[in-house]
Amino acid sequence: MPFPVHRMRRLRATEPLRRLVRETALEPADLVLPLFVTEGRSVRNPISSMPGNFQLSIDELLKECSECVDLGLGGVILFGIPAHKDESASEAYREDGVVQRAVRALKDRYPQLVVITDVCNCEYTSHGHCGKVVGNDVDNDATLEWLAASAVSHARSGADIVAPSDMMDGRVAAIRRALDNAGFSRTPILSYAAKYASVFYGPFREAAESAPQFGDRRSYQMDPPNAREAMREIALDIEEGADMIMVKPAMPYLDILRMARDRFDVPLAAYQVSGEFSMIKAAAANGWLDETRAMMESLTAIRRAGADVILTYFAREAARLTLGA
Ligand code: PBG
Repeated sequence: MPFPVHRMRRLRATEPLRRLVRETALEPADLVLPLFVTEGRSVRNPISSMPGNFQLSIDELLKECSECVDLGLGGVILFGIPAHKDESASEAYREDGVVQRAVRALKDRYPQLVVITDVCNCEYTSHGHCGKVVGNDVDNDATLEWLAASAVSHARSGADIVAPSDMMDGRVAAIRRALDNAGFSRTPILSYAAKYASVFYGPFREAAESAPQFGDRRSYQMDPPNAREAMREIALDIEEGADMIMVKPAMPYLDILRMARDRFDVPLAAYQVSGEFSMIKAAAANGWLDETRAMMESLTAIRRAGADVILTYFAREAARLTLGA
């Protein structure tokens, strides 16, 4: 006879009591802010579909990161928008490409800031696909060389972590081998292990100017209905040498996060992607949702589902809030 002995509401009666028994917390150190870096000086192009986010030139990026350091964010992840795109994504692995220079500048100014680089080709190819296009598809094995070269160039620039997001088979092994051969055996790999072919990347593709010019990414990114397949993707990436794994997007895939948390003991990241962010922003702008509460509830849910680290465009706002700043 649980009731009236048990009354769940007892511990919900006041905020101090709720705080005492709260199971999940967010900390600035767990949050990673994605940033877009572009050529030029004093460039701060607003991304209209992602309010508060900009394409930043390196000098502006440095300014933007000062608050990230002050707030104690876990880190930043950089996406490059090169001046020139071509068939072979050559700016992705040039030693003086925009991301490579940005990493050097950031590590020089803020040695304590963790700088992660996204390793992918879609921002650098003229066709917007994540690798070498042969016929109508992306050639897996040829693309591995580009990815390995990008990762090594990022590590050489001083990146603390490289994060492949392309979804080619075997890319973690290829990157690990190339890093080790180049003397970067200490550079960790955060693999976007379970990355779905999601509609929620829409705003990002405007931000990174990376929408595919033909077709879509379904022959390499995962099919949204599949969960067991995600566990295989993750297991393979860990076997190949991934130090950390990621599930992406986050909120529509909380079940995948939970399954991954229960099965694997490596640090688990979740990417609250551009569409998840922009939906909250748009609803708030219409007066349909309280933005701050929607932000905190979504991030807390992602953490509760099992994420250790969250990549989110809300990183600064959420960090300020947790610090009471
Ligand atoms: C690059 C990449 C994408 C995102 C992160 N890395 C886009 C894509 O796969 O099309 C999406 C991030 C976001 O939507 O916030 N491959």
